[in-house]
Amino acid sequence: MSDKIPSPMNWREDYEKKLTTAEEAVKLIKSHDHVIFGHCICEPEGLIDAMVANHDAYRGVHITHMVSLGKGEYTNPEYKDNFTFDGIFFGAGTRNSIAHGNGDVIPVYFSELPIWMRRGILNFDVCLVMVSPPDQWGYCNLGVESGYTFQAMRSAKTVIAQVNSNMPFAYGDTHIHVSQLDAIVEMDMPLMESQPAKVGDVEMAIGEYCASLIEDGSTLQLGIGAIPDAVLASLKNHKHLGIHSEMIADGVLDLVEAGVIDCSEKSLHRGQIVVTFLMGTKRLYDFADRNPMLMLRPVDYVNDPTVIAKNNKMVSINSALQVDFMGQVVAASIGTKQFSGVGGQVDFVRGASRAEDGKGISIIAMPSIVTKKDGTIISKIVPTIDQGAAVTTNRYDVDYIITEYGIAHMKGKTLRERARALIGIAHPSVVDDLSKAFEERFNTPYVDE
Ligand code: COA
Repeated sequence: MSDKIPSPMNWREDYEKKLTTAEEAVKLIKSHDHVIFGHCICEPEGLIDAMVANHDAYRGVHITHMVSLGKGEYTNPEYKDNFTFDGIFFGAGTRNSIAHGNGDVIPVYFSELPIWMRRGILNFDVCLVMVSPPDQWGYCNLGVESGYTFQAMRSAKTVIAQVNSNMPFAYGDTHIHVSQLDAIVEMDMPLMESQPAKVGDVEMAIGEYCASLIEDGSTLQLGIGAIPDAVLASLKNHKHLGIHSEMIADGVLDLVEAGVIDCSEKSLHRGQIVVTFLMGTKRLYDFADRNPMLMLRPVDYVNDPTVIAKNNKMVSINSALQVDFMGQVVAASIGTKQFSGVGGQVDFVRGASRAEDGKGISIIAMPSIVTKKDGTIISKIVPTIDQGAAVTTNRYDVDYIITEYGIAHMKGKTLRERARALIGIAHPSVVDDLSKAFEERFNTPYVDE
């Protein structure tokens, strides 16, 4: 669409002219094109299935997206000559693409993605997106996402939209006019869903520790994984909480319904939940529909640390795969294997730390161990991170680390003090090993304080 201004004249006629089938629409993709998908639930499954089915027509088509709940079939080894995945965030469908030789990583903060598109650092030929049917003015709606999709549609040379009547109509930077689309495919299907993670005793204990640091009237950012839901479940007795978050899942709904999240004390966008995207179940998507309490804004605004810092009592809560003795947080890789992506973790850690009222905090919360299928126990607290792993939140930014065994505050502590505090919240079964590593590194006996 190349940043076309909406042209509301005769939009119904325009819509009819652009209507086509998925099979025809994906012929607009040419070999070696760079294709970006709408983000997360805005990923148009119907168009992607048609694109994969048409694989023989393509050579070297580059696919880029961030969070995806889709099947990721374009990363299957048999399509290696047809598609390459230049991933920004990896999930179940795409995680093995690098090992297959047809995937690679573009390291970029989510917040900078729209900026990189505007600056031409990343250029896209085609954007495939899912939108709602047009309203009476000819505007379709992105419903559950504004993060980078809004900018991707503006930057790409061609925009192909799957119109799905299940897409809610949400407020914010979510409107795209029919005149700004190049091809339209009507195809209803249920929106993709992410079921709430199971919250067990460990997660609940972590949630309680997090809740103990959260004051009434705080504004929260909640990351990805089981931990955010556990934190929310522990906040039932809090008052006047607000949300300024990259994303939300179903967990916020109970607290909205209970009146705990009312955004009444937010210092920025008072009364509104501000997010870049939603990822949950139909219950969450129904909540988004024409709900003035919810405001979707692009990620270069929501995740901008200077914007985050304008929220009083800002609390960011994210998770990790590993934390080392220095407090370095690994959240997106397991050794050299890309597991997910940086998302907004660093931006929210920094934004919360610099909250203008001086009351912001950032929390990295995680279970102390993972237990593999064969029963092997792996400590998430480690003397040094795995070889090849990438640091997500560095030791200068890290603030609180929480496990089911307690809270370790990193800021203001020396490295030795940090290591001691972290061993104090490690799983009892690994404390001996960690103590030995402590003693070797610091030439001091480990004393449990
Ligand atoms: N070593 C080896 N494997 C590990 C591991 C470790 N240290 N830590 C976790 N794993 C494995 C788990 O066993 C699990 O494997 P499985 O999928 O086979 O069951 C998997 O990795 C996921 O671990 P888990 O701890 O359950 O992750 P999660 O779903 O709670 O997500 C993050 C945690 C860190 C991956 C997730 O929060 C993330 O991607 N963060 C980065 C982006 C971010 O923070 N965004 C915030 C703004 S939205």
